Amino acid sequence: MSRDFIDRKRGFPKILNLGPPLPFRDGEGGGLLCYNMPVFFEKLKILKENRLFREIKDRTSPQGPKVKFGDREYLNFSSNDYLGLANHPYIIDKAKKALDDYGYGSAASRLLGGGSILHKELEDKIAKFKDTEAALIFNSGYAANTGIIPAMGGEDDAIFSDELNHASIIDGCRLSRAKTLIYRHKDLSHLKDLIRKEDAKRKIVITDTVFSMNGDITPLRGIYDLCLTLNSELPTPNSVLLYIDDAHGTGVLGKGKGALSHFNIRPEHWIIQMGTFSKALGSFGAFVTGSRDIIEWILNTARSFIFSTALPSCVMAASIAALELIENDSELIKRLWANRDRVADCIKEIGYDIMESGTPIIPIKTETVENTLRVSKYLYEEKGIFAPAIRPPTVKESRIRITVTAAHTDEDIERLIEALKEVKWQRVFS
Ligand SMILES: Cc1ncc(COP(=O)(O)O)c(C=O)c1O
Repeated sequence: MSRDFIDRKRGFPKILNLGPPLPFRDGEGGGLLCYNMPVFFEKLKILKENRLFREIKDRTSPQGPKVKFGDREYLNFSSNDYLGLANHPYIIDKAKKALDDYGYGSAASRLLGGGSILHKELEDKIAKFKDTEAALIFNSGYAANTGIIPAMGGEDDAIFSDELNHASIIDGCRLSRAKTLIYRHKDLSHLKDLIRKEDAKRKIVITDTVFSMNGDITPLRGIYDLCLTLNSELPTPNSVLLYIDDAHGTGVLGKGKGALSHFNIRPEHWIIQMGTFSKALGSFGAFVTGSRDIIEWILNTARSFIFSTALPSCVMAASIAALELIENDSELIKRLWANRDRVADCIKEIGYDIMESGTPIIPIKTETVENTLRVSKYLYEEKGIFAPAIRPPTVKESRIRITVTAAHTDEDIERLIEALKEVKWQRVFS
């Protein structure tokens, strides 16, 4: 792939900088409004030539450790369903009951009566689960980050963001109009330098707890200590906020409670925890938890919360049920970690580089786009294993991203490991 093709600063293909569409009428006297399609055709052609064109894969089965695409069944190492809850009978029963009790559509935003008492029940439950005063539900993790971050910081503030933070955080920072300073991935001394030099009124440190494409964990204890010290030194109390995106930590780290619990950190008033129900909890939607003041402020100002229809009540019921399962069945998380450790150890033994993965997200470095596509295709077509290729602009360096779940059996894991050995021995990639 041509290096000039990628915007080095952002890692995005330059062609994503699309020009304005040129409208014209289809036929005389009105008709369909059409666009100058050749513009996109040319840009799509470049994507395809650089092997960066993306395609959707839709299942013909429920989500799980085995899924079907078309008529064929595949072993699935692609989902974020870490605890295997996406198709759990208890969750399905609870969601069905909520459908009977509350119907399907919510038909209005929360502020206009779109929520039911299940929304409040879930907020109370997740606030308690995270040991915080209050919580608010968002329609997705993406909506949460693009709504909460602009609610917390504006033009006079400075945000300090890890360079590998999720795209929704990057977009949230842009929408906030705050000065955004990017610190090198997990580099505490760089963060410290940047934060000490900056004299903005309010400072917000933002980090993923588990990085979604690398599977590594942020050094949260060090970040917390830095914020704590700064907050004790500065004249205005709590002028440094810590915002964590615990999308991949919730249900996985700290016996399921997430990253703060994993690092044994108290949920201070100046810490805002965002997370999703869409990954380990096998459901959908997201949450923010923290002090009552902060949550009320977000409720009153986050545009993605205010101006969007509430999630259906059956989704709330599913998330409540998922939390109940996590609280009552510690075996689930133990099984996840046993599976994760076994897969990670075996992959390393074969000789692959799994970067700094310390979680069920295990990247396998394959260096080039071509190699990555070749390995993913080989696993899919020859071995019936779905292990997706992750390419720019999602990541700078292409890789296969394996995700291990509690629902994978020993046999599933053996099949994956044997297939990965063959990939190595047969030199499927150079
Ligand atoms: C770290 C992180 N934050 C936020 C999101 C967005 O969550 P959702 O899929 O619920 O929109 C994701 C999902 O990929 C994620 O990995």
